[in-house]
Formats: sequence, C-alpha cells, structure tokens
Amino acid sequence: MSPPNVSPDWYNPPPYDQWEDAQPHPMWAQARSECPIIETPGNEWAPDPTFSTHTFADADRVMRDSETFTATINGESMAPFMGELMLGMDGDEHRRYRGIVAQAFKRSAIERWKPELIDGVLTRLLDELAPAGRGDLVASLTSKYPVQVICGIVGVPMEDHEQFNEWADQINHGPLRPDPGMAASAAMVEYLEPLVEARRAEPTGDLLSELVHAEVDGERLTDGKLYGFLRLLLPAGAETTYRLFGSCLSGLLTHPEVMDRVVEDRSLVAPLIEETLRWDSSVPMVSRRATVDTEIGGCPVRSGSPVTVFAGSANHDESRWADPAAWDIDREPQAHMAFGTGAHQCLGMHLARVELDAGINAVLDRLPDLRLDEAFPPPVVTGYAFRGPKTLPATWSP
Ligand code: HEM
Repeated sequence: MSPPNVSPDWYNPPPYDQWEDAQPHPMWAQARSECPIIETPGNEWAPDPTFSTHTFADADRVMRDSETFTATINGESMAPFMGELMLGMDGDEHRRYRGIVAQAFKRSAIERWKPELIDGVLTRLLDELAPAGRGDLVASLTSKYPVQVICGIVGVPMEDHEQFNEWADQINHGPLRPDPGMAASAAMVEYLEPLVEARRAEPTGDLLSELVHAEVDGERLTDGKLYGFLRLLLPAGAETTYRLFGSCLSGLLTHPEVMDRVVEDRSLVAPLIEETLRWDSSVPMVSRRATVDTEIGGCPVRSGSPVTVFAGSANHDESRWADPAAWDIDREPQAHMAFGTGAHQCLGMHLARVELDAGINAVLDRLPDLRLDEAFPPPVVTGYAFRGPKTLPATWSP
C-alpha cells in the first residue's frame, strides 16, 4: 500500500471565503494524473486531516460502501440548523426515512407537476423578461425558477417564496453564521407548523399532504424528520438546479453553433443536460467519514478521517472521457457522478431533469436569437462546493 500524498505544494484548496470564485479543475486534473488521493492537514473549520479522492473509481467505491464510509459527517455541521437530516443518516434509519419521502420524487410522481406548476412558473418569469430584449438570465430567470417550483411542490403560498428562500439561505450558511442560521431554522418551522396541521386535517394533494400521510411498514415520519426534510429541500433542490441551469445556458451561449442546432432539434436538449451535468456539476463535492482503518485506491486511510469525494473531478476522469474539459453534447452517453451514487444518490434527480428540460425549452421558445451580450465579458462557471455562472448577460429578439 502506498501512502497518500500529503498536501503537495500545487494542491491549494481555497479558504472558505474564496469558495464562490474558486476554479479547482486544473488542480483536480493534476491530482488525477499525479496522486489521486491527497491528505490535507486540519484547519480551523475542519480540524481533522482530510483525505480527498479525484478519480471515478474512488468516488464510486466511497459512495457505494456506506459501512466503511459513513454519511453522518453531513449531519454534524448541519443538524443544529436543519434538524434530522437524511443526508447524514446511515443504514436502516436512512432506508426507512428515504422509503417514505421517495414516493413523492419518483419519475411518475414528478410528471404531474410539469403542466401547471413548472410550466406556469416559467411562463410567468419569461412573460416579464422576454419583452426587454436583453438582461441577465441568472438574476431574472435561473435563480428564481427552481425556488418557486419547490415552494409550489411543498405547498408554500407563492407570495411567501422570497421569505422562504431567505430562511433557506440563512440555514445553509448556519455553520458560518450560527445566530441568523438558528433564528431562520426556528422561523421556518414556526411558519410551517400551521400548514402541516392543516394538511393533517385535510390533504390538498401537495407534497406536504403526502409527507404527513405517507407510511412505510405502518410507520409515518416523526415531526423531527418531517421538518428536517422540509428544511433540507430548498438548499438541496433549488441552489443545485438553478446553478446547473445556468451552466447549461452558459454552454449554449458560448457555443452559438450548438445553440442553433438545439433550437432546431429539441431531441438534443436531453444530451445537453447530461453533458452539462458531467462537464461541470453544480455539486462537485460530497463528504463522508471512514469508520475503520481502510484504504482508498491503495492508500491507507485512518479510522475517523473525513473523506472528501470530488465528484466534479470524477466526472473529468480521462479513463472514461476523452478531452474531459470540453463541453461536447455529442459524446456517447455514459454514467456520471453529478447526482452521486449509492444509498444517498440524489433524491431529486428526476425533478431536476424535468425542470432543466422544461427550462431550456422555454428559453429557446421565448427568447429567439439568444446570444451573449457583447457589452459584457463572457460567462464563467465558478465555485468549489457549488458551481455555476454568477451572471449570464444576453440579448434576444423581443
Ligand atoms: C442539478 C441538480 C442537482 C444536483 C447536481 C444534485 C446533486 C446531489 C448529490 C451529489 C447528492 C448526493 C450527496 C451525498 O451523497 O452526500 C444529492 C442528494 C440529495 N439531493 Fe440532489 N441534486 C440536484 C437536485 C436536487 C433536487 C431538485 C432535489 C429535491 C427537490 C434534491 C434533493 C436531494 C436530497 C433530498 C438528497 C439527499 C438524499 C439522501 O440522503 O438519500 N436534489 N443531490
């Protein structure tokens, strides 16, 4: 067994306050070619030395072996703000919990949200945007769309979605700013309580009604797990999808020849989404902790060590994809890691794909002759823990 490399001098994970602007792909490429498992020393945020993986095979191994690599590390930092978090559960507890909430996220269950809710949100946002003829697609469209869809699915009244989004953001940043995080967590539960009670008394067909009545083996969700799930939904489902939507549009805007093909042939939208998920997933890292002394890729890993799986790097593994940094919608389809794998594989992946497909088609229908706005620099996808373009200045025929 060869020891892992300990922080080679070219391996510089950005400090937290620079995560938004980080560009880690070159560093991950060097790790894949020189030393795919790297040990980094602890710091003020993560006191234990961490082992990072960079290849597809190592990502697959860690995410599928949930006995050797526990997900409880995800709950450790977020539990004070989100409560009982499925992302931080293992084994039977996770299986039972996921069994109850998964029914609402099956492909067949998602389709029913498409005509009214998903298309309705897109129509409203594009009705406002289209006549302008130019604008930032992130500020006016992508950042607003999945939040409104999730609020609609949960059953939160539309007029409250901005408040809901603000709480979700404060909860998300809880580990960095605990006081507002705790206050937002309490405020969200207080807001949801009467809605939950109303759905218990009279189901209305929304997700909340389903969740309070769903049973697996005669078991229902406890209040702790119900509010834990509701507090996870917006951070897990809105930020991830809006950023990926932005990366899809960024690919199209920076490749006008592909844009022209996709406008004409909408069967290319599905491969475009899969290629963008592979090329630059909005969720490039996943966390676990080793439960025993073990090894990854032939490198020893000590029991108790945090393990960071760079799924964004696994999706550029040269042994699976030629020229992985290129955005190429004509690639042969091949499984990627954007939604993770194993027990915690993304619960919302069918919803994300339906939202992305509807979103891209609506943009191409409603914003004809869509092009980059030459008055601004071209868009870039950035980020370390979440990736996406911050702005997408564009013009179109009103
Ligand atoms: C492009 C969009 C999305 C991406 C790239 C993404 C990515 C991921 C990844 C990588 C994981 C696995 C995390 C781990 O193993 O630790 C995950 C889990 C999860 N995702 Fe997504 N996600 C997306 C959209 C959504 C949506 C729309 C929802 C829900 C409405 C959602 C809900 C969840 C939940 C609840 C989990 C935890 C599942 C579990 O613990 O069993 N995600 N997602």
